Amino acid sequence: MNPVIVISALTKRFGQTHVLRGIDLSVASGEVLVVIGPSGSGKSTLLRCMNLLERPSTGTVTILGKELTAKGVDLPDLRRNVGMVFQSFNLFPHMTVLQNVMEGPRTVLKMSDNDARDRAMSLLQKVGVEAHADKKPNKISGGQQQRVAIARALAMEPQVMLFDEPTSSLDPELRAEVLDVMRNLASEGMTMVTVTHEMEFARGVADRIIFLDEGQIVEEGEPNATLTKPTTERLRSFIQTVRWGLQ
Ligand SMILES: Nc1ncnc2c1ncn2[C@@H]1O[C@H](COP(=O)(O)OP(=O)(O)OP(=O)(O)O)[C@@H](O)[C@H]1O
Ligand SMILES: [Mg+2]
Repeated sequence: MNPVIVISALTKRFGQTHVLRGIDLSVASGEVLVVIGPSGSGKSTLLRCMNLLERPSTGTVTILGKELTAKGVDLPDLRRNVGMVFQSFNLFPHMTVLQNVMEGPRTVLKMSDNDARDRAMSLLQKVGVEAHADKKPNKISGGQQQRVAIARALAMEPQVMLFDEPTSSLDPELRAEVLDVMRNLASEGMTMVTVTHEMEFARGVADRIIFLDEGQIVEEGEPNATLTKPTTERLRSFIQTVRWGLQ
């Protein structure tokens, strides 16, 4: 099957800082890829390059056979295929939960209010927050807000979902509900790229894990083998840090 994302010889510099140093990566349709690595290793930058929230310094990003980095592409159109969920939920604070999820379908996809509402409500049901549809985001828990953020991204019917540490700002008891939603998405065949320190999730759900360090993919492979038998000292010591809760 054709890959959903192909990244080739990608580099990213901010001034003199070389953040990504030659990334080659391809994500297959239906694949769940987990990205791990120390703080500052370039994980968020890599994800942000996948939908051109950051423009790569060199190299190419291709989504569904179309090169995002090419000149003159219809970027908003290509971006629709890529849903993104951030560590901080980034919901519109002045809108209700329902309005947050309806907004993209209404304004970008030009759906009617009724159709956008139907789609939003069924997604809110899917992530288990339909009872809170009429509340403002600050009236619901962080776990609920993050599930709304997932529903909002799904409302655009993306071909791939990017998650950047979606549970890091949540209390432990709220993490499980977000991870459950992600687990369900994965089992439905959604293509997913997830930056996370949730090692149990990585071992249970990911098809592949990549370890990023200083802007390079240092190790990659099947999660269980990669995490239990790291071949580099860098990954070994990273796993120790995470295990002891320092990361
Ligand atoms: N807009 C920017 N301008 C300048 N430097 C940046 C910018 N964004 C990121 N960086 C730098 O790039 C490096 C990688 O940052 P990035 O956020 O991708 O790391 P990360 O692996 O996601 O880290 P964390 O685990 O802390 O989220 C860091 O040194 C960071 O300071
Ligand atoms: Mg980050």
